[in-house]
Amino acid sequence: MLLLGIETSCDDTATAVVRDGRDVLSSVVTNQDEFHAKYGGIVPEIASRRHVALLSAAVEDALERAGTTLEEIDGIAVTAGPGLIGSLVVGVAGAKALAFASNKPLYAVNHLHGHVFAPFLDRPESPPYPFLALLVSGGHSQLVAVDSPLRMRVLGRTHDDAAGEAYDKTARLLGLPYPGGPELDRLARTGNPKAYAFPRYRPAGDALDFSFSGLKTSVRYFLESQAGREAAPADVAASFQAAVVDALMTQLQSAFERARYNAVVVSGGVAANSALASAVTAWSKRDSVSAFIPPPKYCTDNAAMIAAAAFYQRDATRADPLSMTADANLPFVLTVRASHT
Ligand code: KG4
Ligand code: ZN
Repeated sequence: MLLLGIETSCDDTATAVVRDGRDVLSSVVTNQDEFHAKYGGIVPEIASRRHVALLSAAVEDALERAGTTLEEIDGIAVTAGPGLIGSLVVGVAGAKALAFASNKPLYAVNHLHGHVFAPFLDRPESPPYPFLALLVSGGHSQLVAVDSPLRMRVLGRTHDDAAGEAYDKTARLLGLPYPGGPELDRLARTGNPKAYAFPRYRPAGDALDFSFSGLKTSVRYFLESQAGREAAPADVAASFQAAVVDALMTQLQSAFERARYNAVVVSGGVAANSALASAVTAWSKRDSVSAFIPPPKYCTDNAAMIAAAAFYQRDATRADPLSMTADANLPFVLTVRASHT
């Protein structure tokens, strides 16, 4: 089953062609960083206008690189939400038009479910169910029990900033260029993670939640208190990163111990972080936990993961090209409904 994926939930215009939820024949991601950099963050209006300008060519590009045509495609998968509404509607309108004109099935995919299926791409073995997923991106941080492709339960989520958001805001405090997450990761590699003890949020009782806004504020106060003195930016970056990774690993391991899971998945933009990947890999070796982290190109937003999710959830995500709508707040829980006819 050959699916064309379209993802425009934020600031990346992404298209892909994926066979059977696994073989990526093409994955095209055009980031808009140069258009947002001078504002220090994503400007929603600019993002949606860039999607309009880029989408048609990105679809043609994905088909051409995959050596296929719209006629040979078996369906079109698009991110329906959550995300920036002005960005989502561009991809959704494009996908609806393509599906209607070519008379192919349309699949409406939840962006976060896309991140759950990213580790299924381009590798021989898939994470065995049930597995525990840590989704950490610019918009979300949550722990999810994935019982099957259609049954996922959110076990804990962030109370405030997402992990990626904390990275981006802290990078800005350190004067790093946009987008800050990967820059901070790079800087932290040369610093001492034990230089400063930034706070780690611990939820009350046995909750599996996260909070990153206190950490970000604490870095801000620390930098203000250091004005004129010598706090090495690399040490601040490494110490901040150690606090984030520690908080994520504590909750991930705690959730893993509470139920029987066959594997752990860590996905979303922050899963591209070198320190988080090392911590997960070290834990997986030490405790023989089967861990799946996608390669960085599938951690950050892409359309191949959307085509993969549509393949595994095809009976529940089928949508009508005439009536489907984007939803900025699309709920995470999948409502399994009778297949569209
Ligand atoms: O999944 P994603 O591409 O978009 C959303 O769905 O939000 O995640 C983007 C987020 C940004 O906040 C970015 O700074 C962060 O992921 N990110 C990283 C790294 N690469 C991307 N954060 C830390 N270290 C990285 N290497
Ligand atoms: Zn994402």
